[in-house]
Amino acid sequence: MNTTKHTDANHAPHAAAGHMSSREMIDTCKKYSLFSWSATGKVDPLPIVRAEGIYLYGPEGQRWIDFNSQLMSVNIGHSHPKVIKAIQDQAATLAYAYPGMATEIRAKLSLRLAELVPGDLNTFFYTLGGAEANENAIKAVRMFTGRNKILVRYRSYHGATNGAISLTGDPRRWPTEPGMPGVVRVMDPKPYEFSFGSTDEEIVTNNLKYLEEVIQYEGPKNIAAMFIETVTGTNGILPPPKGYLKGLKTLLEKYGILLVCDEVMCGWGRTGKLFAFEHGDIVPDICTMAKGLTSSYLPLGVMAVSDRIAAHFQENVFWGGLTYNAHPLCMACALAAVNVIVEEGMVEHSAHMGTVMRGHMERLAKKHRCIKEHRNIGLFGTIELQKNAAGERLVPYAGSHPVMGKLGTFYRDNGLFTVLQWNLVMCNPPLCITEQQMAESFDIIDRGLDLVDAVFEG
Ligand SMILES: Cc1ncc(COP(=O)(O)O)c(C=O)c1O
Repeated sequence: MNTTKHTDANHAPHAAAGHMSSREMIDTCKKYSLFSWSATGKVDPLPIVRAEGIYLYGPEGQRWIDFNSQLMSVNIGHSHPKVIKAIQDQAATLAYAYPGMATEIRAKLSLRLAELVPGDLNTFFYTLGGAEANENAIKAVRMFTGRNKILVRYRSYHGATNGAISLTGDPRRWPTEPGMPGVVRVMDPKPYEFSFGSTDEEIVTNNLKYLEEVIQYEGPKNIAAMFIETVTGTNGILPPPKGYLKGLKTLLEKYGILLVCDEVMCGWGRTGKLFAFEHGDIVPDICTMAKGLTSSYLPLGVMAVSDRIAAHFQENVFWGGLTYNAHPLCMACALAAVNVIVEEGMVEHSAHMGTVMRGHMERLAKKHRCIKEHRNIGLFGTIELQKNAAGERLVPYAGSHPVMGKLGTFYRDNGLFTVLQWNLVMCNPPLCITEQQMAESFDIIDRGLDLVDAVFEG
C-alpha cells in the first residue's frame, strides 16, 4: 500500500497518536469480526480512520478518493458539519424513544419528507435500512391488496434479509434459495445478453408484452405488486429505456397491481433528480429509500406510501415493527442530511457533474480498447470492460478475471477507492465532487485501464 504519495497533510498520523496502525486494525477486524459477502480470511479491507468531503484517510496519513460514496450512500460527502451537529444536538436532548411515542423530530422529518417526496407519497414507515424498508413494503402490499404474489426482475438487488433477498434477482440470492414463496421473477427491459429489440421503443413494447403474458399465467388477481429498482444499481447502473416506467405503471394499474420503486441506491439526488422515478414522469404506489436519506451517517430506511395506502393503514393494523422504528437520532440525521441535499443544490450539481463525468468517460472510451460501454445518469455511473473487439465481456455474468484484482490494487495504491463488480468499474462519487476532483479521479481510472488494455485479446 502506498503511504507516501497520497497523504493527509492537515492531520498528524492517527497511528502515531497512540491508535492502531493499518496492520493492527485490519488483522484485529478480520480476526474478531466477520465481513459481509466474503470469506473473511480473504478480504483486504481499506483501513479508515477519518473522512471528509470526497476523501478517506488511513492511520498513517494515507488518502483515497471515495469514488463510490462508500456503498453509493454518502451522497452529501463525508463529515458534513450540519449533519454532525444535528446528531449531537438530538443526542443531548432525546437519544431514544420507543416507537409508540410521538416525538417532535419524527413529526418534523415526516412533514419535510411529505414536502419533498413527489406526488401523494406523504406517509412514512421508518426502518433501519433498505432491506427492512423492502421487507415492510412486502407486508404492506400484501395487506393492502389481499394478494400474495410479487413480480421482480433478474438484474436487481433489494437487500439481504429473507424477503428482500428473495426479491433480489442477482446471484446473492442463490445460497438462500428457495427463499420466500410467492416471488415471480421476470426479465428486465435490458437483460444481460438477450435483447427485446434495438430501439428503446421496441424494447419497451416487447418487454411489456412479455410481462403482460406472465401476468396472465400467474393470474392477475394473485399479484400484489411489482418491485423494481427505478435505476438498477449494483447489477450494472441500468437506467430504464425511454417510456418503460410510464408503460409499466399503466400496465400494472390495468390489473390492480401496485408498483414499488426501490430507490434505496438511486434516490436522493444520485441520478440528477431528487428521485429517479421523476425521470420517467411517474409516481409509484410505494417508494423505499435508505442510504442517501441520511447519507449513511446513521442507519435509516423508510417506506413511503401513497395516500390511498396510508388511508388503509389508518383503519387497519400495520403488522410490522422494530425497536428502532423512528429512532430520534436517525430522524435528526435524516432531516439535516436531506436539507443539505436540497439547500446546497446537490441535485442540480449531480445533474451537471453527470455531464462532466460523461465527458471523461467518452474520452477514455476513445483511448482504451478494453472499454465496452459506459453509462451514467447524474452521478450514478459505470464503465463496462470487454476482453476482445467482438465485445465479449471481460468476465461472464457473476464471474471474475485476474486483471480485475490487479486493477483494484492499482487504484488503491494510487489513491482511489471504488467498487469493481464483475467487469464493471463503478463511478459513484459523493454529490459534492468538484470538476477538479472529477478530473483527478479520471486520471487515476485512465492509468489503471492500461492494465486491462494489456490483456485485451484483439
Ligand atoms: C437497490 C437496493 N435496495 C436495497 C438495498 C439494501 O439496503 P441495506 O443494505 O440498507 O439493507 C440496497 C443495498 O445496497 C440496494 O442497493
